[in-house]
Amino acid sequence: MKELIKKLTEAYGPSGHEEQVRALIQEEIEGLADEVRVDALGNLIALRQGDGQGRKVMLSAHMDEIGVMVTHVDEKGFLRFTRIGGVVPPTLPGNRVLFANGTVGVINVEKGIFDAVGKKLPPLEKFYIDVGAQDKDSAPVGVGDAAAFLREMSDLGDRVVAKAMDDRIGCAVLIETMRRLKKTPHQVAFVFSVQEEVGLRGARTSAFGLDPDVGIAVDVTGTGDCPEDRPMAVSLGKGPAIKVQDAGMLAHPGLKELMIRRAEEAGIPYQLEVLPMGSTDAMAIQVTREGVPAGCLSIPCRHIHSPSEMVDIRDVENAVRLMVAILENPIVW
Ligand code: CO
Ligand code: ZN
Repeated sequence: MKELIKKLTEAYGPSGHEEQVRALIQEEIEGLADEVRVDALGNLIALRQGDGQGRKVMLSAHMDEIGVMVTHVDEKGFLRFTRIGGVVPPTLPGNRVLFANGTVGVINVEKGIFDAVGKKLPPLEKFYIDVGAQDKDSAPVGVGDAAAFLREMSDLGDRVVAKAMDDRIGCAVLIETMRRLKKTPHQVAFVFSVQEEVGLRGARTSAFGLDPDVGIAVDVTGTGDCPEDRPMAVSLGKGPAIKVQDAGMLAHPGLKELMIRRAEEAGIPYQLEVLPMGSTDAMAIQVTREGVPAGCLSIPCRHIHSPSEMVDIRDVENAVRLMVAILENPIVW
């Protein structure tokens, strides 16, 4: 599974520019679905027909990652940019970004990083990207071009670190679930969604189109296990987290209890997630049409929205096991 995670996380795919990730996933799920389609926004939807006895289940993991977009190129060829999704300025100086056409740039801040020592970080307008251009005309990218962090995955043993673990790890869980799910009574739509980081837009349209009975997102959640972290009862390596609540939704109580029950029956470790910020595709699914019971299976992740997001591979493995257990059994409460 690490190989799959490496491929997915190293791929380029800031929100609205998910083509490369989508092509990669399409290859991985070849032959695993009864029907595969791409909708108008770019969501990749893979359908597995059940035996007609179960329910219509929508699973969602987002393909997009946070990034930046060029707003201006100056005479010397330096680029100014705005953010795509929740990019955090302190993570930027010294980091490299990759554009769709393969151009690589390094981010710095006006007056350089040494000048910034001990001071409050300036606003985003003071940051720039250096693509090594000699002047404006030779810059290989321009206004409107998008970039994402450039990083290789590092294998630390039980833990792996990569950019875009949010939410390529969710994509990996869905792909692996498709591989292992032999028989299900449910009609399952595996949705690899677009534009989550800019407001859950892909999940919103795909949920409307699919009109599911039940929705489950797979995404990352924060942990409380690093120095001076805000207290949170989620740690790396203690199992996938079953969402109870985040800033955007209350998980459907029946579905949440069902997820807990399936974990306990199968002897899969799990944690309960109460996240004071952020939300997931499940929030958009939940308020679709007349309302859809929705929940979320979260992968505990450290250093979220940095270029080095860390997960524990055992949590990922257990998330797959739990998802398979949920789909193989009745979904009723
Ligand atoms: Co995110
Ligand atoms: Zn996410």
